[in-house]
Parts: sequence; structure tokens; C-alpha cells
Amino acid sequence: MRNITGPPVEHDDFFDRPKEIARLQRELSNSANLRINAPRRVGKTSLVLRLCEICQQQQWTAVYLNVEDSADELSFAEKLLDSLHHGGLHPDSISRCAILFRKARQALGGVKVGAGIDLEMGEVDDPDHSTLGRALESVFRKIEADGRQVLIVIDEMPELLLAMTHQDHGQQRVGRFLHWLRALRQSYRQHIRWIFLGSIGLEGFVEERNLGKTINDLTPFILDALSAQEADAFLEKLGTDNHLPLPPDIRQEIIRRVGWPLPHHLQIVFHALVDSGVTTADAAALEKACAFLLRPENLSQFDTWRQRLEEQFSVPDATVAKAMLNHLSQHAKGRTREQLLNAIMAAHPQSEASKVEEQLGRLSIILQRDGYLMENGGRQAFRSFLLREYWQRRRP
Ligand SMILES: Nc1ncnc2c1ncn2[C@@H]1O[C@H](COP(=O)(O)OP(=O)(O)OP(=O)(O)O)[C@@H](O)[C@H]1O
Ligand SMILES: [Mg+2]
Repeated sequence: MRNITGPPVEHDDFFDRPKEIARLQRELSNSANLRINAPRRVGKTSLVLRLCEICQQQQWTAVYLNVEDSADELSFAEKLLDSLHHGGLHPDSISRCAILFRKARQALGGVKVGAGIDLEMGEVDDPDHSTLGRALESVFRKIEADGRQVLIVIDEMPELLLAMTHQDHGQQRVGRFLHWLRALRQSYRQHIRWIFLGSIGLEGFVEERNLGKTINDLTPFILDALSAQEADAFLEKLGTDNHLPLPPDIRQEIIRRVGWPLPHHLQIVFHALVDSGVTTADAAALEKACAFLLRPENLSQFDTWRQRLEEQFSVPDATVAKAMLNHLSQHAKGRTREQLLNAIMAAHPQSEASKVEEQLGRLSIILQRDGYLMENGGRQAFRSFLLREYWQRRRP
């Protein structure tokens, strides 16, 4: 297992999570379609990539696609087809659709796809290919009829949906697209399984827009940080495989300091140990590594936590979320709801207290779900010391 601190990890770099894999497999064998409910950076993408690998070994066709850089329904469709094609599924009908989509793209030029999933394909005499949605359905009909088990994993779907909301008829198109996808899952449900995940939660996105119904067929799959025991084994392996063995007391101290053993946080503390040039991992070395990690030039690895807030929330919500985190970053032991409200009102005296209170309630649920905060004995606090220290230094 190499010391990788950012992108998803695969093959020998993946620290095995057999319990989670077994849970995922059980869900799939019960014909569930899933949405992974998990905080940021907990290892979602790496886990589903491993699942795909295992499914393929068991003769499934497993297709993973990240739709983060897709801008609209047509590019989603193109990416999906491309992935299915690479998965070796029905080249004929897929190729026909791919040609249609290419023509549609050319006809549109630089124009945005205002008609969304109902975009006309110009094949009026052919009901199977008259619109973008129908053309895709025809591919799924063939895949289902083929009888082969197929797993489709879609990562970063909320990013695509967020991008769409900023385009022409965005809200309507998002609703229509999600309804269409739900109908697709229900129509072709014998052999095709779906998993959705992302660094922005799908449930938060749909709840905010009253679209909960469009994903109510997806079973939530909860993925948490590692247990203390798993984190210990993780650190032991990381140390051994990277020529800096970590004795048990140092492993325990790393876990205590991190406070919340995300694989990513364990990887970055270990990286800081190696990078700070120590040859033996002892208490002094760990102290030095933690200080090294929080030096300004090393802080950018936490930036994703800040950037995602801006992408995910409206401007007023992002302002309050940042104010909450700014305040909590100064209080390691946390603050009560009332203390938080007072602090935000003091910083934004022109705001309406009842409105801020409502925002506070809503946002604390999302910030807890995404892994920023936890609530303990009526107090909200940062879940991770690393993130709190980062926030204190980089207050937006
Ligand atoms: N099973 C694992 N074994 C080793 N390292 C892991 C594992 N899972 C996650 N990591 C660490 O966490 C980092 C992020 O992993 P991954 O991209 O899978 O997380 P994610 O939950 O998908 O993140 P995001 O919320 O940003 O999408 C990796 O670069 C690695 O440092
Ligand atoms: Mg991910």
C-alpha cells in the first residue's frame, strides 16, 4: 500500500474494507439500487472501484463513470454510452446512439441543451430514437434482454445537477432528468443495478429542491470512517509497506490526534511524518510532523472542504455555513446552538434572527452529514482536529 494522499486508490494501494464490500454485495444481491451516504473524503470512490473490480471477476459488467465534468444531459448520455461501450455491452445499438448523439451535438453547435432529456434526435419516424431519453432507453432495453448482470456506478452526479441548475430551464430540466432516471431504473430492474455517490450529497441536493421522490427508490448505504481497530491496522500496514514502521503507541497517538480516522487523514499524517525527514517514528517526530502538516504551504490539501461549500450552497447559505465553521474553529470543545446563533448575529447584525436560526438548524444537519461537524451533549464541534486547525488558519 503506497502513501497516496488525494486521488482514489486502487489495487494494492486500497486498504481492504471487507465488511463494507460484503454489505455492498449483499445489497446488490437483494436487487437494491444504492446511494452512498457518507462524509467527504471517507473513501467512497476507492470503495466502489474495488466493488467494480470484484463484480467483474464474478462475470458482471461493471461500469464506473465520473460525471463531474459533464455539463448537461447530452454529455451525460455520451459519457454513459462510452462507458457501456468500454464495458463491452451491445456495440451495435450503442454505436447507433453514439452516431445520433454526435449529430445532435453538431446540430446544436455551442448552444446549450435547453430541451434536456427530451431533446429531439431528428428521427421522427422511429419512436425508439425520437428523443435523447428514448434513444438511451433503447440501449437499456437491449442490455436487460441480454440477461447479463450489469452494475453502473455514477460518481459526482450532484455536480452535474448543480451545473444544470445554472443553465436555461435548469430547475425544470433537473427534475425531469431525475424522474427519467428513476423510471429507467424501475423499467430495467432485473439485471441492471445502480450506485450513486459524490462528494456533495445527493439527498441534500434533492431535499433542498423538493425532489426527494426522484431518489426514493435508492437504498441509502452508510459509509463511515474506519473503526479504531481498522485505523490501527491501516497505520501498521502503511508504516511497514513504506519503510517507516509505526510502533503501537505512535499509531494510537496518531488516531487520538486525528480524532476521526478518515483513511485520507491517516494518509496525510503519515505523509507529513515521511516528508518532515524523520527516520524513526517517535513522539517527537509526530509532533514535528503535525506542525509540518499545518504549515501554510501544506494546507492546500484541505481546500476541497472549503471549495465544496461554495459549490454546494446558495450564497446566503454558504455565508452562514462559513460563519458557523469560523466560529467553531475557535472552540475545540464546541458551542451550543444558542452560542452559535449569538456569534453569527453579532457578525451579521443586519440579518433577521429567525431566518438565521432556521438556516442554522438546516445547515448543521448537512455539515454533520458531510463530516465537518458532530454534535455531542448539545454542542456542535469540528469532527476532526485537522480540519479545525485548517479552518482556523484559512478562515474564508
Ligand atoms: N481503502 C483505502 N485505502 C487507502 N487509502 C484510502 C482508502 N480510502 C481512501 N483512502 C485515502 O483517501 C483519499 C481519498 O479517497 P477517495 O477519493 O476514495 O475518497 P472519497 O470519499 O471519494 O472523496 P471525495 O468525497 O472527495 O469524493 C485517497 O487518496 C487516500 O489517501
Ligand atoms: Mg469521490
